[in-house]
Amino acid sequence: MRPSLLRYAAQALRRRDYSSAAAAAERKVAILGAAGGIGQPLALLMKLNPLVSSLSLYDIAGTPGVAADVSHINSPALVRLHPPACIPLLAGSSRVKGFVGEEQLGEALEGSDVVIIPAGVPRKPGMTRDDLFNINAGIVKGLCTAISKYCPNALVNMISNPVNSTVPIAAEVFKKAGTYDEKKLFGVTTLDVVRAKTFYAGKANVPVTEVNVPVVGGHAGITILPLFSQATPASNALSHEDIKALTKRTQDGGTEVVEAKAGKGSATLSMAYAGAVFADACLKGLNGVPDVVECSFVQSTVTELPFFASKVRLGKNGVEEVLGLGQLSEFEKEGLENLKGELKSSIEKGIKFAHAN
Ligand code: NAI
Repeated sequence: MRPSLLRYAAQALRRRDYSSAAAAAERKVAILGAAGGIGQPLALLMKLNPLVSSLSLYDIAGTPGVAADVSHINSPALVRLHPPACIPLLAGSSRVKGFVGEEQLGEALEGSDVVIIPAGVPRKPGMTRDDLFNINAGIVKGLCTAISKYCPNALVNMISNPVNSTVPIAAEVFKKAGTYDEKKLFGVTTLDVVRAKTFYAGKANVPVTEVNVPVVGGHAGITILPLFSQATPASNALSHEDIKALTKRTQDGGTEVVEAKAGKGSATLSMAYAGAVFADACLKGLNGVPDVVECSFVQSTVTELPFFASKVRLGKNGVEEVLGLGQLSEFEKEGLENLKGELKSSIEKGIKFAHAN
């Protein structure tokens, strides 16, 4: 998917000397929900990313342990606990801090360039992402209120489900606070792209590292629309039935993991990887790297819906350009029409919640 990210991880594991990475721009990344199933491996991956100079880990419980653990990795990011005296600081390194409890949320957020939110409850077998709405909507609303106060200019990477509703909730919270910038709010749909690439590579028998598949729409069931007609490298080996099966598997990828985990949560490791890939792309965009393109659920005019996932070019201010859908197959056109009703009502549900609470 992102050979460069894998390379960072491999280099970080090999290298003893981080002097070259130290030359990168100073960037602070905060993870909210850092002690959870996604938060922990995501903290590890962000600790290995040389673009991160300061890593702030926040959760309502358990963060000091995660921060202490991650802090022992000899990569540039320096881990500090709160209170800071708990752990030695390494001069010249970047910082990783662990925060716990609402009173420390402000300190965790201040100065952040990117805030990643995997806070909330995951699905259990038989649940849809929408079943999480009642708990996660309130969590996201509280965290976004704090973001608007302490780091209103940060890029926000929303992982908490249902993404189709939590992103509109965040937008409404920021609008109310007068800090909304549509270029800086992202629903993380990268895991759908990761899955589409993996499943396509397996079926088309092409090297997975070379595969690209845009995934558009939203992040739940039929709202996830992989565009296999635009997949590269192109494959003539796939029948219409194969494409239908690949589409269904991508849409049900989350449920496949939820059922395999049998009550112990949803995707965490692959999600942490996907979250790290997307955050890395945001950081590269902020640092002025040209032509950084990822799919994301953002404010959009690509369809009549106010939010929609499609390819997005990332730049120094967040979204530089929301790219269109390109040529769709008849099957994809049908999928697009079929997803609009559900996506519209999930967006409206989020907006309604934000206004009512
Ligand atoms: P988890 O239950 O293992 O971890 C969630 C963490 O959030 C816990 O450590 C909890 O203490 C923390 N938390 C709860 N309320 C908080 C608050 N107010 N402030 C800060 N932290 C808080 O759950 P997991 O597996 O890490 O999943 C997290 C979320 O990510 C879920 O909503 C899940 O549905 C979603 N998800 C999203 C995916 C995507 O593709 N966007 C894929 C997989 C999961």
